[in-house]
Amino acid sequence: MGLQAPEGGEKAWGGMEDPTDLGLAPDAPAPTLTTRGVALWKGWLSRPAQEAMLADLREVIRAAPLFSPETRWGKKMSVQMTSAGRYGWYSDRRGYRYERCHPRGTEWPPIPPSVLTIWHAVAGPARAPDCCLVNLYREGAKMGLHQDRDEADFSWPVLSVSLGDDALFRIGNLERGGKTESLWLTSGDVLAMGGPARLVHHGIDRTRPGSSDLLTGGGRINLTLRVVD
Ligand code: SIN
Ligand code: MN
Repeated sequence: MGLQAPEGGEKAWGGMEDPTDLGLAPDAPAPTLTTRGVALWKGWLSRPAQEAMLADLREVIRAAPLFSPETRWGKKMSVQMTSAGRYGWYSDRRGYRYERCHPRGTEWPPIPPSVLTIWHAVAGPARAPDCCLVNLYREGAKMGLHQDRDEADFSWPVLSVSLGDDALFRIGNLERGGKTESLWLTSGDVLAMGGPARLVHHGIDRTRPGSSDLLTGGGRINLTLRVVD
């Protein structure tokens, strides 16, 4: 059903970097493109696979309802979020951190197998991610440039899966500031920040409302998979 990785292996990488140079498994499938060490696989998930994953995510959201976190400065974030896995990512006036429980006090639901399949194809079989952050972007939501740096071990990549509306993903540098590059992420795309790109600044400038009819009510879901501790 398209949940499997595109054909990968040594040959598929051809003249490109070796997958291990990007912090990925030696037999990771060849990406469509790499920019600043960030790997992008366009159209990893077929439409039926996207629908199946969305059904799995509805179960996650039923068990752990979406909420609108606050930044440490007390500003409400424009995305709604929840998590699956051993840890959930959380933010309030005390700052950014991982939490063992949803704000209502229950453990986070397990990460759906449809999502884990992608992780293992890209990051290898040795470890599963601890956290699958689910971000919902309704019209007007965005995410400022930031690094993913609340984890203990940066040798594991960060993986992201896009579902629904197109989103303009901005890639910066390891340090703050400097020139950036942007690319459009579309429904079914998978992206990895690993190896030298593990701590690259990134964010979502805007989405393109109405560009996909995958989500009821419109919008975009991004999944971020990370090893936490
Ligand atoms: C994030 O970095 O937290 C989200 C990235 C995305 O929505 O694609
Ligand atoms: Mn991030």
